[in-house]
Amino acid sequence: MTYASKLNRRHFLMASTAASAIAVNPRLALSQSANEQMSVAVIGVGGRGGDHINGFLKNSKTRIAYLVDIDPAAAAKRADHVESQQGMRPEIVSDMRRVFDDKSVDAISTATPNHWHALTGVWAMQAGKDAYIEKPISHNVAEGRALVEAAKKYNRICQVGTQCRSQKALIDAMQWLHEGGIGEVNFARGLCYKRRKSIGALGDYPVPSDVDFDLWSGPAKFTTPRLTRQRFHYDWHWQRLYGNGDLGNQGPHQTDIARWGLGLERHPQRILSYGGRLGYQTERKDPRYVDAGDTANTEVSIYDYGDKCIVFETRGLDVDHSADKELHTLFKSDRGGKVGVVFYGSDGYLAQVNYTTCIAYDKQMNEIKRFGGGADHYSNFIDACFSRNSSSLSSDAMCGHLSAAISHLGNISYYMGENNHATPEEIQAALASIPSLDDDAATLKRTVQHLVDNGVDLKQTPLSLGLLLEFDPEREVFTNNEAANAWLTREYRAGFVCPTGDKV
Ligand SMILES: NC(=O)c1ccc[n+]([C@@H]2O[C@H](COP(=O)([O-])OP(=O)(O)OC[C@H]3O[C@@H](n4cnc5c(N)ncnc54)[C@H](O)[C@@H]3O)[C@@H](O)[C@H]2O)c1
Repeated sequence: MTYASKLNRRHFLMASTAASAIAVNPRLALSQSANEQMSVAVIGVGGRGGDHINGFLKNSKTRIAYLVDIDPAAAAKRADHVESQQGMRPEIVSDMRRVFDDKSVDAISTATPNHWHALTGVWAMQAGKDAYIEKPISHNVAEGRALVEAAKKYNRICQVGTQCRSQKALIDAMQWLHEGGIGEVNFARGLCYKRRKSIGALGDYPVPSDVDFDLWSGPAKFTTPRLTRQRFHYDWHWQRLYGNGDLGNQGPHQTDIARWGLGLERHPQRILSYGGRLGYQTERKDPRYVDAGDTANTEVSIYDYGDKCIVFETRGLDVDHSADKELHTLFKSDRGGKVGVVFYGSDGYLAQVNYTTCIAYDKQMNEIKRFGGGADHYSNFIDACFSRNSSSLSSDAMCGHLSAAISHLGNISYYMGENNHATPEEIQAALASIPSLDDDAATLKRTVQHLVDNGVDLKQTPLSLGLLLEFDPEREVFTNNEAANAWLTREYRAGFVCPTGDKV
């Protein structure tokens, strides 16, 4: 496939600049000619966007034509880097629609905040671009479905940023698991034990003067324009208008692996979460202090798939694994953060302990096998763009939709029961009504102990017990609570409505 016909005059000029750069930087001569490259725009060039940029710079089949960011300083810094590497300065724009209007752009990759992911992807595919979209692919369930439909309707390559799907360690381990490496497996536990400090007091803070806050807000409500958190970038993860907490941030990596291992190509049918945003009020000894985040920093979500089950645990406070003997052994660590998945089989355990390592154990917890090695998720996307074979993608739109939806469904259960404060005994009684394959009582006990160890007084700041929700995996609607269905989408701002159904 060649992209030569798409080169317009602007890119011809850029290519000429590149030729002069090769004279001073011979490394650039190794690149293929612009004719054989696809033209990419990276949208959102903050923390993760930097990784996207490096992924495309490394690949001789791509050249970065645009950087899109509503923060011009962040974009300029990244553009300097791109120029130094590819010899051609990408054009910087703040409104992604400029890129969609440019016929010479073949693909976009996006690492904006979560509330922008789906709209960016749908707009891009409507404009005929292929799309690499960060996890979670969506901010709500309806958006994920919209992306699945857009990829199909416009015949576009759509990859999701759950890069574990391309890692050799994971591919080998999942194959071994499917071949019966640890016997019959019906249960997986995902963990995000990752210390997250408070994002500061809820307040009224100025938006940095040089960013476009209207575009940043996009599909989400436009707040005055003031911020209720101190830090503009990154901390949006913990405000539900924009982010999805750690269940929807780190979670989609692990729930995706859990689904993969258990062979679950469908949504769960019953969901229950409990948790809270706990422990931050005590970080400053000021009773008036309230954290600006409104997503849970402690959350246990149970997903019942009928014959199989996933439990996901989020812990944002300090973790001491000595209280969690089993996990301590499986992760070979007694302290500090732990992010991964454990599969519980009839003959042993398999633990995903980081992005490139999985360890298998027998029933006595003796290590029996190790899987290692990575690979390049961006290359998988780029190769599929050239071959036009979406079945070669490691994680397509449907894969991203199912894995992001797990987070959304868990959060909906939590949000709907947020004011339903409960004692551990009351939570335990409620857990009896969900046929989980986990030892729920033990998980609850460990969670409570973890909070107590972190100085949380559950009488002062109790846990919340989410609603037990029943979900129709085919129709993607809740069947036992009509109000819950409102959470499957959001109120969009005019001009930034994510199309769904026939409107995709
Ligand atoms: N796959 C992974 O391992 C991985 C790792 C980290 C983050 N992520 C994902 O990447 C995304 C970004 O996370 P981050 O930590 O880099 O956040 P960040 O806040 O550091 O960066 C987001 C960037 O997007 C820009 N932006 C916001 N709205 C925009 C718009 N409308 N158009 C263009 N640019 C816009 C911001 O100015 C900022 O530069 C998140 O969705 C996160 O889940 C994935």
